[in-house]
Amino acid sequence: MSTPVSPQVSFDETLIRKYDQSGPRYTSYPTADRFYNHFTEADYRRALAARREKPEPLSVYVHIPFCNTICYYCACNKIITKDHGRSAKYIRYLAREMDLACSLIEPREKRFLQQLHWGGGTPTFLSDEEMTSLMKHLKNNFSFTDDAEVSIEVDPRKVNDTTVALLGKLGFNRISVGVQDFNEDVQKAINRIQSEAETLAVIRAARANGFVSVNTDLIYGLPKQTLDGFSETLDHVISVSPDRIALYNYAHVPHMAKPQRRIALEDVPQPEEKLQILSLAIQKLSDAGYVYIGMDHFAKPDDELAKAQREGTLHRNFQGYTTRADCDLLAFGISGIGKVGPTYVQSVKTLDEYYGALDAQTLPVLRGYILDRDDIVRRAVIQQLMCQFELVFTSIEKQWDIVFDDYFAIEKAQLPPLAEDGLITIAPDRIRVTDRGRLLVRTVAMLFDRHLREASSQGKYSKVI
Ligand SMILES: C[S@@+](CC[C@H](N)C(=O)[O-])C[C@H]1O[C@@H](n2cnc3c(N)ncnc32)[C@H](O)[C@@H]1O
Ligand code: SF4
Repeated sequence: MSTPVSPQVSFDETLIRKYDQSGPRYTSYPTADRFYNHFTEADYRRALAARREKPEPLSVYVHIPFCNTICYYCACNKIITKDHGRSAKYIRYLAREMDLACSLIEPREKRFLQQLHWGGGTPTFLSDEEMTSLMKHLKNNFSFTDDAEVSIEVDPRKVNDTTVALLGKLGFNRISVGVQDFNEDVQKAINRIQSEAETLAVIRAARANGFVSVNTDLIYGLPKQTLDGFSETLDHVISVSPDRIALYNYAHVPHMAKPQRRIALEDVPQPEEKLQILSLAIQKLSDAGYVYIGMDHFAKPDDELAKAQREGTLHRNFQGYTTRADCDLLAFGISGIGKVGPTYVQSVKTLDEYYGALDAQTLPVLRGYILDRDDIVRRAVIQQLMCQFELVFTSIEKQWDIVFDDYFAIEKAQLPPLAEDGLITIAPDRIRVTDRGRLLVRTVAMLFDRHLREASSQGKYSKVI
């Protein structure tokens, strides 16, 4: 029943059917749904102040929530508006938030920024002047390292060659291009009409302007999607040879993302067809030489993510897979999630709350979480599994001064059935996720999630596949 499609990942329908349960994506452990509301602004200030003693390198995330039009499938935190005046005010407040947070941490000359990401919404909703002014403010506040990864999400319908050239001049060196699907019927059903020509133009312009990595986002499971149609989309995407390809599973959560109510369920491919589409996509991407990084991500073998995975230095944070070791993450803008030392923090989700907090000279904290030692040990275990598909017991023992078999006695007792099904192999010193288990890696990670076990709230998550 198993079809090997690459040395890294293989598609096993029986296994997928058996283990297709809901589960978190582990961009953090504990996951964001464990954050609590009694986490206060004072807690966040304390975490920031602690950086003065030990300033770790920084990753910065800036959330730009605005979009011109609504894509019906979208589950991101965004504000649909045609009024470009709204972004002028927003970037003024972003600057204020940055000034306030920076006043609490180490001085600028010790504030090394290794990674910057602008996400959304649609960061290119901003005018060229606004993007220039925002980047200037970031550069005034942080010391960018020479090899900083500076990335941006762009919607090709909203970007021309001049803007891509400007992004290059501003220092962006990685670009993520939303595609989803090139098929016309799908595009109509999701309210996102985007020609192949405008998409390719952005990718070409990015290459011409020195971007070192181009990512494209695709989604499988969208309304009106068929095996043949998505096969064509894949061919077209592969022909422009992006360095990375994200292949997301359409998450249908209309209770949380209201515009999804405009998607008729009868138009969405049935589980059988969806699995065929996923299988085909994995086959095509593997044939084209892409390496499976994990979760929804594929990369060319010479891309830094693939190299980091081979060298055992891949990490995972709120922005997904990354080559940068555990830096602190400062998030600016509504709904952003940050991590400072053992503290996670999330910002308020509406503009009114955001502006109100900053008018009162306070950081716009919504909720957060302070990790205890057990959380930190489990985070290391889950990171290893998600990034290396392997868990070496001695490395955790050494790092955390525990006896793995004692500390994780409950979890170890649950492993044999997964091994019998071929999801993992168990050796005396390690477990390894098999090629056919890789698509289901979060099923293995979930065993080590103490909060999930205690709350058994799996119903809230999207399906694994
Ligand atoms: C913030 S958007 C990317 C930037 C830009 N706004 C655009 O659409 O081109 C991030 C990505 O999340 C993915 N996404 C959004 N909603 C999703 C859903 N319900 N299920 C799966 N993926 C989704 C899409 O692939 C999208 O490109
Ligand atoms: S997919 Fe991108 S452009 Fe479409 S609504 Fe979501 S954030 Fe906006």
